[in-house]
Amino acid sequence: MAERFYAAPMEGLTTWLWRRVHHEVFGVADKYFTPFVSPNANLSFQRKELRELEGNGGLKVVPQILAGRVDHFCWAAGAIRDMGYSEVNLNLGCPSGTVTAKNKGAGLLQDPDRLDALLDGIFSGLPEGLGLSVKTRIGWRDDGEWPALVKVFSRYPIRELIVHPRIRSDFYTGRARREVFSATAGLTRLPLVYNGDVTTPSDAASWTVPVMAGRGLLADPALFRRAAGGPPAERGELRRYHDALAEGYGETLGAGPALHRMWELWAFFAGNFEGADPWVKKMRKCRGLADYRPLADAVLTGCPLREEE
Ligand SMILES: Cc1cc2nc3c(=O)[nH]c(=O)nc-3n(C[C@H](O)[C@H](O)[C@H](O)COP(=O)(O)O)c2cc1C
Repeated sequence: MAERFYAAPMEGLTTWLWRRVHHEVFGVADKYFTPFVSPNANLSFQRKELRELEGNGGLKVVPQILAGRVDHFCWAAGAIRDMGYSEVNLNLGCPSGTVTAKNKGAGLLQDPDRLDALLDGIFSGLPEGLGLSVKTRIGWRDDGEWPALVKVFSRYPIRELIVHPRIRSDFYTGRARREVFSATAGLTRLPLVYNGDVTTPSDAASWTVPVMAGRGLLADPALFRRAAGGPPAERGELRRYHDALAEGYGETLGAGPALHRMWELWAFFAGNFEGADPWVKKMRKCRGLADYRPLADAVLTGCPLREEE
């Protein structure tokens, strides 16, 4: 298997800056997926979305599109192709009520016929030279819906079907239904990618299909390196990673939004250190990067590294 390890799209977390910093410090993932861009009737991208699409020199990046309409999707796909990308990804997983109510994300899993019509339109209008992968959950209300959905997917030349084996109503809780994923190989010849709850190097290394990780990779940014037989994260690397993110967000977003980004990061990253939680709690009361930095320093230099598998 040439490509094994994919970084998941995570809104506000696996950003253009994160991708750049992650590969510089911990080695490159085989593919990085952008958090979704969401084209609307204006047929334009927001500034924030453009930054996701434009800052990816040299990395293998797949932009993800959240859309429930063929015209919106195909406009965005065309614009993305014109930026030089060779693949786009369709989001069929986002469980948020505001998204699903507009028949986007996991909302599209409610009705296989509607999904079929969308894919038919997309594949008819997909710009030449652009591949399409799909990232999906396994149902809306029940994983018994999955075989019918796979049947629809199998009608199309989907480059990769990335499966997060939860249903919409699971959101991100409960256990990923790995047995449903395993059974999928018997239902389709589409190339499959596994996503969901991969948090250890041995788990990541155990798959015979490519693996996508999100939360596990944010918790341990060296996850893929370790899965490939490399060393765990060193303190100096964790420090460099953290500082490059804090500084980069500070410079590009300003202090307030940068702080928010760092809080979100620490929700995963704190697990690398023993006794980080009280410091992380204090970080959430900070008003600017000036009072944040000493707290981050206290963890990065003072807390022992946690020994894991
Ligand atoms: C905060 C957050 C943001 C996410 N943003 C996206 C997104 O933009 N697009 C997407 O397809 N999935 C998104 N996801 C889902 C992840 O890509 C992934 O499918 C999910 O977290 C399960 O994988 P994991 O257990 O490896 O984290 C998001 C998940 C979280 C928790």
